[in-house]
Amino acid sequence: MSKKLLVTGSSGLIGSEVCVYFAQQGFAVHGVDNNQRAVFFGPQGDTRWNQQRLATSLKGFSHHELDIRDRAGVLALLKTVKPDVIVHTAAQPSHDRAAAIPYDDFDTNAVGTLNMLEAARQACKDSPFIHMSTNKVYGDAPNKIPLKELETRWDYADPAYVNGIPETFTIDQSTHSLFGASKVASDILAQEYGRYFSMPTCALRGGCLTGPNHSGVELHGFLSYLVKCNLEGREYKLFGYKGKQVRDNIHSLDVARFMFEFASAPRCGEVYNLGGGKDNSCSVLEAFKLAEKFSGKAMKYTYVEQNRTGDHICYYSDLRKMRAHFPKWGLTKSLEQTIQEIVTAWQTRK
Ligand SMILES: NC(=O)c1ccc[n+]([C@@H]2O[C@H](COP(=O)([O-])OP(=O)(O)OC[C@H]3O[C@@H](n4cnc5c(N)ncnc54)[C@H](O)[C@@H]3O)[C@@H](O)[C@H]2O)c1
Repeated sequence: MSKKLLVTGSSGLIGSEVCVYFAQQGFAVHGVDNNQRAVFFGPQGDTRWNQQRLATSLKGFSHHELDIRDRAGVLALLKTVKPDVIVHTAAQPSHDRAAAIPYDDFDTNAVGTLNMLEAARQACKDSPFIHMSTNKVYGDAPNKIPLKELETRWDYADPAYVNGIPETFTIDQSTHSLFGASKVASDILAQEYGRYFSMPTCALRGGCLTGPNHSGVELHGFLSYLVKCNLEGREYKLFGYKGKQVRDNIHSLDVARFMFEFASAPRCGEVYNLGGGKDNSCSVLEAFKLAEKFSGKAMKYTYVEQNRTGDHICYYSDLRKMRAHFPKWGLTKSLEQTIQEIVTAWQTRK
């Protein structure tokens, strides 16, 4: 009998990649998604195409149309499936959108995660539970690090951060956005179920997670949306920091690979910063150049002086803890390769 994986947010960028990767490792995959992304972001955020892709390409894939806010439904499903591994990626993922829908944001991100963790404790306590958190749990505290301005990007001027932001960085007393606050609640809950109940949980604090299967929209999915604008000749709005704000980008495949390593040798209540690190980082201006290089089209954009509230000026993850705990894991996709794949994916999907 093959092992069972249950993935929430299975039609999204990370969830769908995890479904495919674990299926390739012999898992029977149960996906949970209700296309809430289309409710959050409108038709451009619709993920049904990805659900259909999984249903037609993955043998043994079962889709469960369930809202993770449905506490009784979540408990019943976990008691029926009793998964060997749980990957929880369903979320309201945008910090700008959260301000307009605070109840939906908190109910999905914080309460939905509690529903999943408690159901797991009751149904399959020893199964690894991997929670997708975010670097927004650090709020805008990284902006307090002294910076140096380079020609096309900001960088840390303090040598203490030459490898990026470590997991020990403060999550307190800074501006998070309501999204960051609801994700802090979920991140701490995942840790607590690990520490208090000795469950094999971890919270992965994502940088920019990206890849060809994102349904990128203006409010979420930076590289995917940027490439889409470039291909369609649409104007991209650049908010503040001279366009030199830095994000570290990791391909969804490398995220799924890390999750598999963790599930194979789990630990209790762990936290990891999961991003592309310095090597896969770029500023928005640099991302324009890369998109242009692979599409052959000029990027159209307007600059808006006001930055997004709580937006990081420079953020890249310190990957040393992940590499120390899981030496077999490393990045396999470069930034250039990733952007090239996103360009091809949008050209094909259109
Ligand atoms: N993409 C990024 O740059 C990034 C960065 C840091 C952290 N994260 C985190 O990673 C996770 C996955 O992100 P993603 O980019 O794959 O997001 P995504 O929006 O592509 O996927 C999330 C999926 O969850 C589903 N969903 C949302 N609410 C639901 C609900 N109540 N019930 C059932 N399904 C629901 C959506 O329909 C969507 O298909 C999220 O927790 C997000 O906060 C993402």
